[in-house]
Amino acid sequence: MNEPWIHVRDLTVRYGSKTVLEKVTLDVMPGEMVSIVGPNGGGKTTLLKVILGMKDFSEGEVRVLGEKPGHVKAGEVGYLPQINRHLRDFPIRARDVVLMGRFPRLGLLKRPGPADRKLAEECLEIVGMSDSADVPVQSLSGGQVQRVFIARALAMEPKLLILDEPSTGLDAVSQEDFYGTLRRLRDNRGISILMVSHDIGVVSNYVDKIACLNRHIHYHGPAGNEIPEKIIQEVFGRNIQILVHNKNCVTCREGHSNG
Ligand SMILES: Nc1ncnc2c1ncn2[C@@H]1O[C@H](COP(=O)(O)OP(=O)(O)O)[C@@H](O)[C@H]1O
Ligand SMILES: [Mg+2]
Repeated sequence: MNEPWIHVRDLTVRYGSKTVLEKVTLDVMPGEMVSIVGPNGGGKTTLLKVILGMKDFSEGEVRVLGEKPGHVKAGEVGYLPQINRHLRDFPIRARDVVLMGRFPRLGLLKRPGPADRKLAEECLEIVGMSDSADVPVQSLSGGQVQRVFIARALAMEPKLLILDEPSTGLDAVSQEDFYGTLRRLRDNRGISILMVSHDIGVVSNYVDKIACLNRHIHYHGPAGNEIPEKIIQEVFGRNIQILVHNKNCVTCREGHSNG
């Protein structure tokens, strides 16, 4: 099946009269790892929320695993929101946090059984946190907490993993580590990953595609190629309109000039 698992076309989103996303187009294919980068306020979290069915949109088309956003089967999409401070403050052991990932699959009122526990242990293993299974998440480092949250999302057995600034608070070494973990997941489990990231330099070594978002999608193509300095300035600078895209960029093909 070669349908994209996330399909966004000409998406326009407003908060009141303010347009936050305009004609945004993005596809994430099965098994693909894609990063969205861009300045604060550029609409990254909003785009994720639309994909998750948490925010309505004015115009455009969005499909997630072939369904309308919000109509995907429970547990098929794992989401790690931008801030997890609340959960972080809970006096709860790492393995129980991971077990919580089973709840969407279990449905109402069912308690996790031995198979769920076994899966939770496996997920901790995948992210390299087995040794800390009994440690309260409060006492873990930022990077370790993020891994536990990834394990929780994995315990859901999702096809798609959506992460909003998951590497915030990690030092450079943990970042590399963390993206490496995500990439292994992608390789071993064939899940698709869409994440928001600030570390454009680091993340481009790990992902298949980068999308620069600042109201519009500014660049959208295979990673690994250097993103031209000009684009970075344009996306992160002020007052920009569009500019350079590569030939894979649908937005570009449909009307914006290369330059
Ligand atoms: N619930 C909301 N109500 C009104 N405006 C919002 C709301 N959420 C976000 N915005 C605005 O939408 C824009 C994009 O925000 P967001 O998607 O959070 O950007 P990013 O994640 O790229 O920093 C910002 O200008 C922000 O102020
Ligand atoms: Mg955000």
